[in-house]
Amino acid sequence: MKIVVTGGLGFIGSHTVVELQNEGFEVVAIDNLSNSSESVLDGIERITGKKPIFEKMDLRDKTSVQNFFKKHNDVAGVIHFAASKAVGESVENPLLYYENNINALVYVLQELKELSNPNFIFSSSCTVYGQAEIMPITEDASVQPAASPYGNTKQIGEEIITDVAKVTNINSILLRYFNPIGSHPSAEIGELPLGIPQNLVPFITQTAIGMREKLSVYGDDYPTPDGTAVRDYIHVVDLAKAHVVALKRLLSKQNLDKVETFNLGTGTGSSVLEVITAFEKVSGQKLNYQIVGRREGDITSAYANTDKANNVLGWKAQSTLEDSLASAWKWEQKIRS
Ligand code: UD1
Repeated sequence: MKIVVTGGLGFIGSHTVVELQNEGFEVVAIDNLSNSSESVLDGIERITGKKPIFEKMDLRDKTSVQNFFKKHNDVAGVIHFAASKAVGESVENPLLYYENNINALVYVLQELKELSNPNFIFSSSCTVYGQAEIMPITEDASVQPAASPYGNTKQIGEEIITDVAKVTNINSILLRYFNPIGSHPSAEIGELPLGIPQNLVPFITQTAIGMREKLSVYGDDYPTPDGTAVRDYIHVVDLAKAHVVALKRLLSKQNLDKVETFNLGTGTGSSVLEVITAFEKVSGQKLNYQIVGRREGDITSAYANTDKANNVLGWKAQSTLEDSLASAWKWEQKIRS
């Protein structure tokens, strides 16, 4: 069964390609290589024994999208990762984000609705909840006004899919990720941030390996037990597996609605200082860090209520924070050696 993975060479996309191939799916990966490298295909092959079919393509080019789906009109589902995801960059260049994250989505849906198996999985984010009032966050929590163009593209994307579902045969699952971290345990694929990492874990591993002098901890005056902000860090392999479970749900027509939404997290919140302590434990490295002021736009706390994912989707994160950090560290050491 043929599955299209857009952004298939990216961080979450590549891990999902591995899990799909492990389950026997035939994968066609699309990527424009704007934030990834073709060598990821070799890593996938070393893990699974097979390279996915790869189409280097930019989904902002409508004609290419049309031609792609003419060629691959036998696909059974699309998992759509391809998007830009840097909050600060989206504030500086909103049109890039609207073009990349919205136009591309529209073009894919336009072609998908013509297929006989229009199953669609969308990469959304817990960013849609903003600072939720009640922790842990359930899927019923209200969507808050987006704090950035990036966050807005996830909200608009969810709305577009919901509108389209009303008038087409497309069945969709919206997956709202908490904070994906880590790498495949083989260290054959992992996160490859361009330039200075904005996210916590790649900044930690790059500091520990000596590429960055020290980590800035953004704020210790939050109303949390140790004063640093709390997030739900989920191992990327667990996250990837959730996509396969969601896809199978659509393929076997077990979905209860044309559009279903699931939170993907572990259900456990960890503070920045807890992440640092856990990293030091698994790596045996002392991390150089300094407390600085809060980062603009950051929220105090976000962690998932996982009941719906556990009970309805039938998926549960298996890895601990320490497992995730150990895999991130193994990957960092491998790529710098
Ligand atoms: C960020 C985005 C979120 C996006 C996600 C994608 C913001 C405000 N949010 O999530 O919308 O979906 O990335 O990957 O950018 N931290 C430090 N020092 C650092 C880096 C981070 O202390 O150098 C802290 C942050 O303040 C935060 C936590 O670590 O409390 C996690 O940060 P990060 O990894 O950037 O994720 P989010 O901000 O949760």
